[in-house]
Amino acid sequence: MRIRIRREFGQEPTIYELPATLDGQDWASLSLSAAMAYVQRRYDPSLAYALSCGRGSCNICVVRIGDEVVTACTTPVTDDVLIEPARQKLQVKDVIVDMGLVKKARIAPIRDPAAFRLSTPSNASVEEFSSG
Ligand code: FES
Repeated sequence: MRIRIRREFGQEPTIYELPATLDGQDWASLSLSAAMAYVQRRYDPSLAYALSCGRGSCNICVVRIGDEVVTACTTPVTDDVLIEPARQKLQVKDVIVDMGLVKKARIAPIRDPAAFRLSTPSNASVEEFSSG
């Protein structure tokens, strides 16, 4: 399993290899937020991403996957997924965008978060993969 994150427009995305599972859970049952948390804690502390409610309610974690803007906390991880900032002009750092301008109508429709109930890392698992 691997994910790609476009941290700078005009540059190739950074590729991160993930273990087969996280705490025994398949990545398909985990969110993009969980994958980015893993990458930040395990490989690259400079990776910037946003996470707050963790259940699709606040939209702070919006990212772009292909032509679609989604909430990272409710979108499942797929192999070789390319994660980009929701909109290039609003990029602050990596996949974080200017939240003052993030409104559903200004970017794109966001998938129905009720359709996904995915896991984000518990504090225990975050501590576990940040210690190694
Ligand atoms: S963290 Fe609130 S919608 Fe993702």
